[in-house]
Amino acid sequence: MLILGIETSCDDTSAAVVDGDFAIRSNVVASQEDHAAFGGVVPELASRAHTRLIVPVVRMALERAGVTLADLDGVAVTYGPGLLGSLLVGVTFAKAMAYGAGLALVGVNHLEGHLWSGLQVSPSLLSTPFLALIVSGGHSELVLVRAFGDYVHLGGTQDDAAGEAFDKVAKLLGLGYPGGPAVERLASEAGNGAVSGADGNRLKFPVAVMAEPYDLSFSGLKTAVRYHLEKHPPRGAGERAVVAHAFQEAVVEALVGRTLSALDRHPVEHVVVCGGVARNGRLRHRMAEALADRGVALTVPPGDLCTDNAAMIGFVGSLLLRRGRRAPLDLGAAPTLAEVGWDS
Ligand code: KG4
Ligand code: ZN
Repeated sequence: MLILGIETSCDDTSAAVVDGDFAIRSNVVASQEDHAAFGGVVPELASRAHTRLIVPVVRMALERAGVTLADLDGVAVTYGPGLLGSLLVGVTFAKAMAYGAGLALVGVNHLEGHLWSGLQVSPSLLSTPFLALIVSGGHSELVLVRAFGDYVHLGGTQDDAAGEAFDKVAKLLGLGYPGGPAVERLASEAGNGAVSGADGNRLKFPVAVMAEPYDLSFSGLKTAVRYHLEKHPPRGAGERAVVAHAFQEAVVEALVGRTLSALDRHPVEHVVVCGGVARNGRLRHRMAEALADRGVALTVPPGDLCTDNAAMIGFVGSLLLRRGRRAPLDLGAAPTLAEVGWDS
């Protein structure tokens, strides 16, 4: 089985060819650079860039895989959640392609794509329940995966997503967009024993205490960073590194802490951390340490499968098609979590 995956839910235009065993024949991602000057994604620019990029990106994915449309068994496209205009480009393109080439069409929930993005490295995920922490620019969600298609959305962020917090703090620190990798690089310059100023005190930002066991919040942390920077304008890169480090530690501790408390209530033997923030080395390291203490296995997909990509959409598409699922040609875009059947 060969599936063409298409992903355009935010600011990455991506197309991939994957087979039924989750081998990736190609995975082309065009990360739009149109947004850098604005420090965040501008929805209207994103949809225009998708319309410009979708044809060359799909063509390149087919070429790199060495296949033509006639070799494909189906087209899988992200239909939500995401930015409406961005989603519409992928959905419309995929419908036209499926209709024109006589291919099966299937719509994929973007978050379900992230959930199964570790399949290539851990195919055993299909036969074991696991707890997933999806941490991206748009979402921070804890999901109990009982089996493919059987999900309990436990909870998530009440305000900013983890990646969004990285992006906003990067902006406060005068770093570029996307902010996650830039904050991580700067934080690593401070090191783990980072101290602030001559008093030798370790700078620490508070982690929000939430009433519900699975809920997360990052907007207070972002504000704490802003107030700190206003009160203590950093004198040089060293002091900015200390702030980046303290911020990253606070996010990582919140994510690891919530994952452990979810495990207390749902004692499964496998955890998956996915989404763009899962590229963060400090998060990967701390999560691995914490789970090893409990004898729980951890899967974190390779970096290029953590950030938005069409291979993960192809994985879910192949599983859905194998189960006989097809989308009608009036498949629409579903921007919100509720519209894809996940409570917000
Ligand atoms: O999954 P993704 O590509 O898009 C969404 O579905 O939102 O995630 C993008 C997010 C951005 O906010 C970016 O800053 C963050 O992932 N990110 C990181 C790192 N690499 C990407 N955050 C922290 N550390 C990183 N190394
Ligand atoms: Zn995503």
